[in-house]
Amino acid sequence: MSEWCQEIPTEGSVELPPDPRALEALGRNHSLETALADLVDNSIDATASQVLIRFVRDGIRLIGLYVVDDGTGIAPEAIDAAMTVGGRRDYSSTDLGRFGLGLKAASFSQAASLTVLSRADGHDPVGRRWLLDPRRRAFNCDKVPADFAAAELDRGWPMPIGRSGTVIRWDAVSGFPASDEPEHVEEFLSRTVSHLQGHVGLMFHRILADSRVRIRIRIDVEDTRHGVGVTHEVRPLNPFGYPRRLPGWPKSLVAEANGTRLVLRCHIWPGRSNLPEYRLPGGAEQRQGIYFYRRDRLLHAGGWEGVHSADKKLQLARAAIDIDGDVSGLFVMNPEKSRVSAGPDFARMISSARATDGTTITDYLHAAEAAWIAANQRATAQRSAVLPPGRGLHPGVCREIRDELPQRNEEPLNILWKPLTGDDFFSIDRTTRTVWINQAYRRALLGGRRGGLNDLPVIKSLLFLLTEQVFEGSHLGARDKDNIELWQEILTAAARAEKFTYEART
Ligand SMILES: Nc1ncnc2c1ncn2[C@@H]1O[C@H](COP(=O)(O)OP(=O)(O)OP(=O)(O)O)[C@@H](O)[C@H]1O
Ligand SMILES: [Mg+2]
Repeated sequence: MSEWCQEIPTEGSVELPPDPRALEALGRNHSLETALADLVDNSIDATASQVLIRFVRDGIRLIGLYVVDDGTGIAPEAIDAAMTVGGRRDYSSTDLGRFGLGLKAASFSQAASLTVLSRADGHDPVGRRWLLDPRRRAFNCDKVPADFAAAELDRGWPMPIGRSGTVIRWDAVSGFPASDEPEHVEEFLSRTVSHLQGHVGLMFHRILADSRVRIRIRIDVEDTRHGVGVTHEVRPLNPFGYPRRLPGWPKSLVAEANGTRLVLRCHIWPGRSNLPEYRLPGGAEQRQGIYFYRRDRLLHAGGWEGVHSADKKLQLARAAIDIDGDVSGLFVMNPEKSRVSAGPDFARMISSARATDGTTITDYLHAAEAAWIAANQRATAQRSAVLPPGRGLHPGVCREIRDELPQRNEEPLNILWKPLTGDDFFSIDRTTRTVWINQAYRRALLGGRRGGLNDLPVIKSLLFLLTEQVFEGSHLGARDKDNIELWQEILTAAARAEKFTYEART
């Protein structure tokens, strides 16, 4: 065996440009949704206020796709760099662009023809086209005449592209159905538009909801024969948009190592939910775990990245992390910007992370599991049926009772006022299915406010919940009688006290 040599000698070099067919291999990890999101990135970097994704059909068949924006556009001297694979520019600290690849990789993953038509303020429109051709021998990009570029830019888009804007056009889109069956095409369009709304709404939810950015993203379908159909607005889909917070959550777990500060914002959904924010594209169970954001753009929604394994009982746990700035070294983002991989240091840092109250990642996972178990028990506990709420109860209370409790198929329970002999607070009338409240206390309980049929909803709901079960069965049982006596004594004392306080004041 000869000695190992550190230095490798060379003698001159040969230029080996990549085979042009390498273009076809770009963006293989893309789906239609992720590819279009990559184009939306570019529109956002171009500070567009409006973006339109438009499918084009020719009667039955889908024939093309546009992404149009009213952003800053591309100047004639910049268009060739923009069309170059890996043609990077100077990026600002807020730019979503990074590799100089997105436009090309996204487009070639979906279409055999990419045309870019653009106008920058004060410049003539420019156009270029890349064709994916298996017989391609060189990296030649076609120049599109300025008048065609101008015509495409001024096609009468729903937003005017005055001084500047960009039209990206895909032809020969591989994922479009080849079928001429109108039902297939309709089905494809409605499914794709709804997936797209979900995906784009999720990935850009922070940017869409940011009042400083003010961007609107829409999707529509143009039929070259019959015009444009309905517009679908992309709304922000916030994976942390739960209706109420679980007490004590969210918490920020912070880890510091070698000058790097990592913050994991740990959220727990209060329970399973039918909200689209919970039932995210791909299914809520798959969306547990860590949400990686770069410059407010969500890259990767869910998964535990070696911190833990997926578990049905952890589906209420979602944690956000911003991978900008000094933590960026811990992560690798794929060029499609649809996946973030975390290195081994990440799991180590997360296990050392603490909230100000000492909470660790293990505590967080336990809390999320406990929340899931509690929510599940609540939902599955068999609640016994009640009488339907009747007269005297506020409509909002009736709605809530109907939503939360199964109803017995019987006459409703009324809760009404009338003068009662003596000073009893209430009386139970099983024949008319009514709890009568003694009119003598009404003024005091209303505290000077005007009464009405549905007045004092708190007291009446409490009475409903308390007395509902004594109306069950054909006669009052001994236990019911005993309960009524007890409630009567306590409530009458309370009502007298109310009356006394009220009369002393007036
Ligand atoms: N809609 C657009 N409006 C204005 N300029 C655009 C638009 N789309 C692309 N460009 C220009 O083309 C360039 C190349 O875009 P591309 O998406 O390929 O790379 P990038 O955005 O620079 O980086 P990345 O690979 O991270 O997306 C951009 O840097 C930008 O200058
Ligand atoms: Mg880009």
